[in-house]
Amino acid sequence: MDVDTRLAHAGRDPDRQHGIINPPVYRASTIVFPTLAEFEGRMSRKYTGFPYAIYGTPTTLALAEAVAELSGGFRSLALSSGLAAVSQTLAAFLRAGDHALVADSVYGPTRQFCAGVLARLGVDVTFYDPLIGGGIAELLRPTTRVVYLESPGSQTFEVQDVPALARVARARGVVTILDNTWATPLNFRAFDHGVDVEIQAGTKYLAGHSDLLIGLVTTRDETLFRTLRDGVALFGDCPAPDVAYETLRGLRTLGVRLRHQAQSALHIARWLQDRPEVARVLHPALPDDPGHALWRRDFRGASSLFGVLLRTGDERAVAAMIEGLRLFRIGASFGGFESLVVPARPERTARPWQEPGFLLRLHVGLEAVEDLLADLEGGFARLHAALGGASPPIPTRVDR
Ligand SMILES: Cc1ncc(COP(=O)(O)O)c(C=O)c1O
Repeated sequence: MDVDTRLAHAGRDPDRQHGIINPPVYRASTIVFPTLAEFEGRMSRKYTGFPYAIYGTPTTLALAEAVAELSGGFRSLALSSGLAAVSQTLAAFLRAGDHALVADSVYGPTRQFCAGVLARLGVDVTFYDPLIGGGIAELLRPTTRVVYLESPGSQTFEVQDVPALARVARARGVVTILDNTWATPLNFRAFDHGVDVEIQAGTKYLAGHSDLLIGLVTTRDETLFRTLRDGVALFGDCPAPDVAYETLRGLRTLGVRLRHQAQSALHIARWLQDRPEVARVLHPALPDDPGHALWRRDFRGASSLFGVLLRTGDERAVAAMIEGLRLFRIGASFGGFESLVVPARPERTARPWQEPGFLLRLHVGLEAVEDLLADLEGGFARLHAALGGASPPIPTRVDR
């Protein structure tokens, strides 16, 4: 079945729900049992059922089933945020004395969790150059248990050679964990490319409406799922059933939203490439992007998050530019229906970020492209004015 068909049908069964299209929201803490024996044996249900609502309810399970089906993995687990999914998954697969290889380009708080919490708990962490590919073999140690990837990195957009990394790791019995939030399972098939554990910050494209936080973790097989389930259990973390329901609702339109936003983003990226104020646009779907060949080989499409390196590094002028934007509001996160802009501040050690100029990250939403371009055009006019140069006319309002 095509992915759009799956998106419309996964995780629901009207015939088991009185003919109602969507699954109900089961809110719970306590779950009761008819016999003492069943109560005493309730933890036997922890991988597939509901011993206590921290393990989920049928609503969270419906979402998890839909995500596992979309990803083509064995089973998924829902947690309370993308970051909870990242940190608890790492904690589940690592213990004191282990070594973990983590891409230098990962999401900032992922890096901070690794360098701070994991290191404090006795895990040795090495950040690797995201362009290392199969060369990762040289960094593996007898104690390496995990290779953690994010591709493209959500600040600097380097595409990793995931199949090469996964092949090396698999041959040495090392678990690969991929944060696949940028691409979603629609555009990067993590398990087909050899990944063991896929993470989605469902907060972003899956939910898609900037109104909730959720994380999803999917494993390739049952053994990995059991390690994950047991590893995260005692953190006591779970999303509220209402949030799981809203994520499932967002998922239904993921395909159309993502395609539309990706198309608008590529249009805007190309427009930005021609602007004299722009040194480089960091978007793997652009043919001259360094990651383009790998992106073409491994991805089925792009999303709507990319970087723009301005020629100027003048922070005051950039503030004037972005503070006056009306549609691209300044704010973290992405994947919602609205456009956003943030300064990207890559924290790097293995491959330090050395390109001069101010790096912005744009997220393109569902607004009309012409309105977004007019907004950016006004921003460039303010940039010029703040830099003291001649400025093109500033649009006073966004006309349709
Ligand atoms: C790539 C990536 N992974 C994970 C997260 C964490 O997601 P959440 O905001 O749901 O904690 C983010 C958040 O921005 C992200 O960009």
